[in-house]
Amino acid sequence: LGGHSGEQVLAGRRVLVTSGPTHEPIDPVRYIANRSSGRQGHAIAAAAARAGAAVTLVSGPVGIPDPPGVGVVRVESAREMLAAVEAALPADIAVFAAAVADWRPEREAGAKKIKKDGAGPAPMPLVENPDILATVARMPTGRPPLVVGFAAETEAVLDHARAKIARKGCDLIVANDVSAEGGVMGGIDNAVHLIGRDGSVESWPRLGKNEVARRLMAHFAGMLAGRYR
Ligand code: CTP
Ligand code: CA
Repeated sequence: LGGHSGEQVLAGRRVLVTSGPTHEPIDPVRYIANRSSGRQGHAIAAAAARAGAAVTLVSGPVGIPDPPGVGVVRVESAREMLAAVEAALPADIAVFAAAVADWRPEREAGAKKIKKDGAGPAPMPLVENPDILATVARMPTGRPPLVVGFAAETEAVLDHARAKIARKGCDLIVANDVSAEGGVMGGIDNAVHLIGRDGSVESWPRLGKNEVARRLMAHFAGMLAGRYR
């Protein structure tokens, strides 16, 4: 009976996971968002808990249940997500699976709904949100020993992922193809590539998001133990 599914490979570890989309408010009733379901991030949090870790899940708005055995912090916007992540540290492993909205409306949402005035829509300038993964990966003190990013790409998946790992300063990128052919976003399966700091690639077959999560736990445990770079 090799490969016991009940093996507690992360016993005694603290794991922080971000998941879901963020909602960037335009006014009290409207927001900017994306198609993330939160399934992969939630599956990772659940798998970490099953692997024996103490898990905090910082989740944007999703329509799926909280994973069992996990502390869940609910947020809406990218800036709230960053604050919740900072409050949840320290951790041994931080996994950034959220699809954080890259931009938010420059104008803070007020209490009043924006009304049509007959003159057509007003321009809506956007500003870039903080990069939560890069912020944590580059923390001068208290950086988690293992910082993992995700990369959702529609083309040149490996090239973009390699550039991302260098730009963000994380230890590992889990890259997947979210093009229409990939069909990952909101779906049940995921075909991922693990990209290391040295540019190395490990490609996994198309698997259920729960199975991806389970295998990732063993990989993370191996990385923490110094078995791979
Ligand atoms: N990420 C983050 N905060 C952001 C943007 C992204 O923490 N403001 C994290 C995501 O959770 C993911 C990784 O960074 O782990 C890569 O996200 P992705 O959207 O693929 O990369 P970006 O740097 O935003 O680049 P782009 O969307 O232009 O490809
Ligand atoms: Ca992005």
